[in-house]
Amino acid sequence: MEFMLNDELVSVGIADAERVGQAETVLAPDTTILKMLRSRGLVGTKEGCASGDCGACTVMLGEAKPDGEVSYRAINACISLAGSLANKHLITVEGLAQKTSDNQQQLHPVQSAMVDCHGSQCGFCTPGFVMSLAAVAKQVCQDNEQPEREDARMKVLDAISGNLCRCTGYRPIVEAGVSVLTSSDTQTAIDGIDDEISSNFLQQRGFASQKGEPADMVNYYRPGSLAELDTLVGRFGNKHIIAGCTDFALQITQRWQTYKALIDVTSVPALLTMTETKGMLHVGAAVTYTDIERQFKNMSPAFVHLLSRLGSRQIRNSGTMGGNIGTASPIADTPPVLLVWDAELVIRSCDPDANIEAPGVESKIALSDFYLDYRQTRLQEHQYISEIRIPRQAINRFHRFYKHSKRMEDDISSVMGAFCFDGNGEQLSHARVAFGGMAATPLRVPVVEALLTSEALSENLVGLACHLLSQTLTPMTDVRASAEFRAEMAAEMLSRALLEYLGQSLPRVDELAIAGSIEVKNA
Ligand code: FES
Ligand code: FES
Repeated sequence: MEFMLNDELVSVGIADAERVGQAETVLAPDTTILKMLRSRGLVGTKEGCASGDCGACTVMLGEAKPDGEVSYRAINACISLAGSLANKHLITVEGLAQKTSDNQQQLHPVQSAMVDCHGSQCGFCTPGFVMSLAAVAKQVCQDNEQPEREDARMKVLDAISGNLCRCTGYRPIVEAGVSVLTSSDTQTAIDGIDDEISSNFLQQRGFASQKGEPADMVNYYRPGSLAELDTLVGRFGNKHIIAGCTDFALQITQRWQTYKALIDVTSVPALLTMTETKGMLHVGAAVTYTDIERQFKNMSPAFVHLLSRLGSRQIRNSGTMGGNIGTASPIADTPPVLLVWDAELVIRSCDPDANIEAPGVESKIALSDFYLDYRQTRLQEHQYISEIRIPRQAINRFHRFYKHSKRMEDDISSVMGAFCFDGNGEQLSHARVAFGGMAATPLRVPVVEALLTSEALSENLVGLACHLLSQTLTPMTDVRASAEFRAEMAAEMLSRALLEYLGQSLPRVDELAIAGSIEVKNA
């Protein structure tokens, strides 16, 4: 496979274990981008946590989308696999500075701003911050925006929400980012960086799927169509399917698992699109959270806000809704939302005995029937999720999503509550109540839903529903929260959702902090 690494064309092969090590250009299928970079001497990209939690390994990835648009995004190199780079453009911190016409190095505007604002002390986190800020600057330029200071600040906070710094403090780093985003000179400086490469490489190569599976990609499969994917899942089963890798890669970096065969589904156009037909929203299983945020901007600000609390920008640029559902984590953030929206999954069943390309058979299952137990689903070995279907009518109903975690950004839920109501004034005709973090699987609470539609909402009914909820759910105690805390938090969430349905306006804690109503103390 070929990809651009800064301004160099790189050609590597992915091989089985026996051939790895015969040449530096032969990589195992489970080689991370970070490992590949550092083995090539590009050590500006750091390893901090190796699990997508600190941002020290942030790099920028450019690619052509199925619609031909070229875009760049920040990703975590420690949990992204080298095989996913085919036909893409990887920019590391070593590739940001540009040569001027008189052969001098000219720092990227973000690098200059970090110097000017004193944004670095020990420097370990700095390349990661620089790459996150460079990615948001690139995005702002691509969108032809010139944000005002407060808007720029929010964009910067979003961009660096997955980057940790232990010694400088965030104020100078935020200031560096804001100064770049609000500067009128930045557009020209950033636009000059990769124009040639974009046009000469990414646009020539086009969307990766059109190229098929390169002959040198042994055991790292990149199917370009549903039919090709069906054949591979029939042959290998679904265990080695990967998309954003934000959860899967932890098996490699934290548990030292090795994989001899992987099926990367991010080149299957049908899995990457969102469409609406006959009142139903179809979300491809490999659509990233970032793309979902854009699509839901007007449909559900509550969902978009929840997504802003899911992982970091780097994680949202890679992670997918299909992955969030398929991993069957009890604390996954999107399943409770999809449960209250009555979503269903499209499952493709593939033929394990087929010798030739064989299209899979499609079936549907309600998400509420999908989970069996902790990390267990109804998915059989040769099946996979291709699509999530959400009734548009459900999205139009009153809904609220609340996430409780120890940290506001880039943290795992201790309790995640989702609520969807409809009715005539105080009499609910439709109620959906779902939680994550309260049992071995994400779940709905039908007994509470039935109570809520049994009579007109009143203070008494809200109290009864909260009491019933705490009697029904049996959460566990772990490092994130005790069982008692979870039960109390779940009841608070239900009560708040009902009060908001009844018209009370209750502020969010982050809004209070922004408005200065509460003091946010530095740790
Ligand atoms: Fe921490 Fe990659 S090393 S996010
Ligand atoms: Fe030392 Fe950020 S400058 S960790």
